[in-house]
Amino acid sequence: AADMGDDLERVLLTEEQLGVRLDEMAAQIDADYAGKSVLLVGVLKGAVMVMADLARRLHCQVDMDWMAVSSYGSGTKSSGVVRILKDLDADLHGRHVLIVEDIIDSGLTLSWLLSNLRSRGPESVEIATMLRKPDAAKVEVDVRYVGFEIPNEFVVGFGLDYGERYRNLPFVGTLAPHVYSH
Ligand code: PRP
Ligand code: MN
Ligand code: MG
Repeated sequence: AADMGDDLERVLLTEEQLGVRLDEMAAQIDADYAGKSVLLVGVLKGAVMVMADLARRLHCQVDMDWMAVSSYGSGTKSSGVVRILKDLDADLHGRHVLIVEDIIDSGLTLSWLLSNLRSRGPESVEIATMLRKPDAAKVEVDVRYVGFEIPNEFVVGFGLDYGERYRNLPFVGTLAPHVYSH
């Protein structure tokens, strides 16, 4: 896009790399859920891209639902205390739930979400995330499907935002310091 060039430091994962990994993740999910119906739960808004790209690669029976959550706390730091802004439409009782996320950073959002969804009587709950920052983890979350482990840097694109921008980039890039340093 026209004026985004200067905002990015470097491309971390190209659109092609993301696509190849999504193919692999989808094959694994198809195998694991063969003969079952899976409910994909996308966490708005970051998960929109991975949800769309992953769901289109699946051949098992898929339903899609969405949740919007917000963590209380100051600025960009998540506190682990989460508020539901939009709840699921689906009843989770007896369902195979697969939470779909763009990134696991501290792990606080997912750790809360996991116990919240597990309390609703699902048959199973697993997690698929495109990215994970192992060095940023404040809480260990057991994640079944991880696209890429990435360094603890400020990344945007493929659903990830900085101040709601850059989500539409088809690749994952690191943000240039001048963008967030003022
Ligand atoms: C981001 C990201 C994950 C979460 C990860 O969402 O999409 O949902 O933070 O952080 P954590 O592991 O430290 O909890 P954000 O709250 O920025 O909302 P968004 O998806 O609308 O951008
Ligand atoms: Mn998010
Ligand atoms: Mg965000």
